[in-house]
Amino acid sequence: MRTVTFHKQDIHRGYLILINHDYPLSYQPKLYEYQGFLMERSVIALLKELLSKVDLHNELTLVSSYRSFQEQEILYQTSLKENGELFTKQYVAYPHHSEHQSGLAFDIAIKSPHIDFIRPHFPATGTSLLFQENAYRYGFIQRYQRDKEDITQIAEEPWHFRYVGIPHSYIIHEKNWCLEEYINNIKDYSIFNPFHYHIENQFFSLFYVPIKNDSITLQLMDDAFYQVSGNNVDGLILTAWRSYV
Ligand code: DAL
Ligand code: ZN
Repeated sequence: MRTVTFHKQDIHRGYLILINHDYPLSYQPKLYEYQGFLMERSVIALLKELLSKVDLHNELTLVSSYRSFQEQEILYQTSLKENGELFTKQYVAYPHHSEHQSGLAFDIAIKSPHIDFIRPHFPATGTSLLFQENAYRYGFIQRYQRDKEDITQIAEEPWHFRYVGIPHSYIIHEKNWCLEEYINNIKDYSIFNPFHYHIENQFFSLFYVPIKNDSITLQLMDDAFYQVSGNNVDGLILTAWRSYV
């Protein structure tokens, strides 16, 4: 076994952080450029893979990815003036509460001469449907679904994808959960009682670690690769990758 210590600030970093009306983003991400858009490095790598599989005729285009606090603020205020409060609250997250500030999310559309920046056209047909259906295989989720509006407090947004990574995107897809539900449900699993999952012959054990004090020290297996992410609420989610049961 090996001993690993995690700290309170680790709660707010990682691919699984929940960013919504209750939980703001609290750090500046490290960003890379792809086709003129800024995102985190893994997001770009996986998005390229997904596009190369589904967008064979270059029908899709990115519309928005990373947005700074100032850009989100301008978008929010402009939309309030032009579209009113109801529309704005449904489709534009409050500054600091937008996934776009994390570099983990992007909006994508069918190419056209006039693209609506707030509600781009991304129909459930053809190439955009293929993109939507395959996104989870590359670590992405459609973040705002129609039947989850009460929880996310954002209207259905077929064009907005969020990177959470594998196996989380598979589990969220299979269970038909939104990220809020996933973060909540995974709290039922501890280091002594992990959630087991597999994708073909790759095995995963996931568990939640609350951080109540300044730090917490855990004993982890020597023979597993662990991914760690904060949930941006109150703890961490650890994912052990193993190639055996
Ligand atoms: N359109 C999403 C909710 C955002 O503004 O972050
Ligand atoms: Zn978006």
